[in-house]
Amino acid sequence: MDGRMSENETTETLTNRQGHVVTDNQNVRTVGDRGPTVLENYDFLEKISHFDRERIPERVVHARGAGAHGYFEAYGTVGDEPVAKYTRAKLFQEKGKQTPVFVRFSTVNHGGHSPETLRDPRGFAVKFYTEDGNWDLVGNNLKIFFIRDPLKFPDLVHAFQPDPVTNRQDGERIFDFISQSPEAMHMITFLFSPWGIPANYRMMQGSGVNTYKWVNEKGEAHLVKYHWEPKQGIRNLTQEQAQKVQGMNFNHATQDLYDAIERGDYPEWELFVQLMPDGEHPELDFDPLDPTKLWYKEDFPWLPVGKMVLNKNPQNYFAEVEQAAFGTGVLVDGLDFSDDKLLQGRTYSYSDTQRYRVGPNYLQLPINSPKKRVATNQRGGQMLYYVDQGPNQNPHVNYEPSVLGGLKEAQQSGVEHRPYVSGEIKRAPIERQNNFGQAGETYRRLADWEKDELIKNLVNTLAPCAEKIKQDMIENCSKCDPDYGRRLKEGLEKKQMEPTDTHANPIGSETADNGIKEAIKL
Ligand code: HEM
Repeated sequence: MDGRMSENETTETLTNRQGHVVTDNQNVRTVGDRGPTVLENYDFLEKISHFDRERIPERVVHARGAGAHGYFEAYGTVGDEPVAKYTRAKLFQEKGKQTPVFVRFSTVNHGGHSPETLRDPRGFAVKFYTEDGNWDLVGNNLKIFFIRDPLKFPDLVHAFQPDPVTNRQDGERIFDFISQSPEAMHMITFLFSPWGIPANYRMMQGSGVNTYKWVNEKGEAHLVKYHWEPKQGIRNLTQEQAQKVQGMNFNHATQDLYDAIERGDYPEWELFVQLMPDGEHPELDFDPLDPTKLWYKEDFPWLPVGKMVLNKNPQNYFAEVEQAAFGTGVLVDGLDFSDDKLLQGRTYSYSDTQRYRVGPNYLQLPINSPKKRVATNQRGGQMLYYVDQGPNQNPHVNYEPSVLGGLKEAQQSGVEHRPYVSGEIKRAPIERQNNFGQAGETYRRLADWEKDELIKNLVNTLAPCAEKIKQDMIENCSKCDPDYGRRLKEGLEKKQMEPTDTHANPIGSETADNGIKEAIKL
């Protein structure tokens, strides 16, 4: 874009996208004052046709979100040790080194403008624009997940999202799926407690959930989990509090984040890791690659590695937040995948959906593009904005190898981590499932008021469900902890005595008389 202007134009003049000045933005072109309208009115056609295309498909999950820019500052250490002992990733090495970040927080199951008070996990996705290219840490507020096999993800999401007939989220569909998926008991115990409704985005934790690897200069690997701890403290809402907030403001979390940054009250999180030598760890009663499990702090201490500060709001929500694209495949040298099956399934899904949702050249958008040199032989595709070619690259050579001035491969930096894998190719669950042990422990570790809330929210949601679903859930909870199962059973029996609406909504809430009066007729 250059700055040339027509003679009837100033720096404030409205133009169309062809650069033509707009002389009347109030009236369409018509035959006479009262119409009909004529079709050759290019300004109108351009304006309305662009408007008709203002939306892109929203994210299939995590559609409702808020974002902010900031930076990550490394400590150079992991706990008391130099970080280089465990990873060669450059962004962590030097104390005080800053890396720009963009963060998007989200709810999961409802649409782009749904209330931010719903019982739902919260997304916590961070894009680090490192000198080695981008690293995305795509996490949630809770430290575990519902399932451990990616094949079950579409079913999980269908059960939580609105019924295909009624278009309403329905507790019976959720618990139909959950009661038959015992690995979800741990996550459900968190989700139906107050931890299922964080008070806002600034006062919640974040976690990578899946197990990744850190790789050092020698190519040695450790299993690693990531956790964000808010310096603002952690606050969650009871169901009743959430409904009050929702009644007054259904954008409260987006507003809270935006306003805090505008007033200079920049939210901060400290980044911790938990480490385990790479391996199967048969001494544990769970598999370290199982995302339904916590690594308890007392066994695997949280080691600080840096902090993140969010200090700039997006200038345009659509360009930056809506079009932001994060993915678990986006790692830099020194960071690696583990064999966590859920993680591997996720890694396919993100960039696949983004090529559809945003377009095949989504990585050329400023929010997604790395803040370093990019030079590829990829060409074409919808909305190509520029050619990713190096300054010395022969523009005729978009292939490799070539002796005519094309791009060349780099040397491997550091020793490659080469895990050895052997075994039958098969479909099988992992051996150490232990579906109920940690769920029971989490139940026992909740404060009394959190337990009361958990039972109340489960009872309210399960009460209208089919008897078989209720019985299976009571059995599952009893396997977690006998007291958990007993309280759910008693709660459901008591609830049965009370008059109840058929399907409570939103999940967790009691349906009450809404007191709506008939309107006068105009
Ligand atoms: C978003 C798939 C599990 C966190 C998404 C999106 C897809 C997806 C397709 C939409 C992406 C987009 O349109 O840009 C999956 C699959 C999973 C899975 C297939 C399991 C097999 C998880 C888990 C977490 C998580 C375990 C938490 C650690 C997120 C977050 C977003 C997201 C935070 C929103 C990213 C953003 O703000 O743009 N997921 N997901 N997902 N997922 Fe997952």
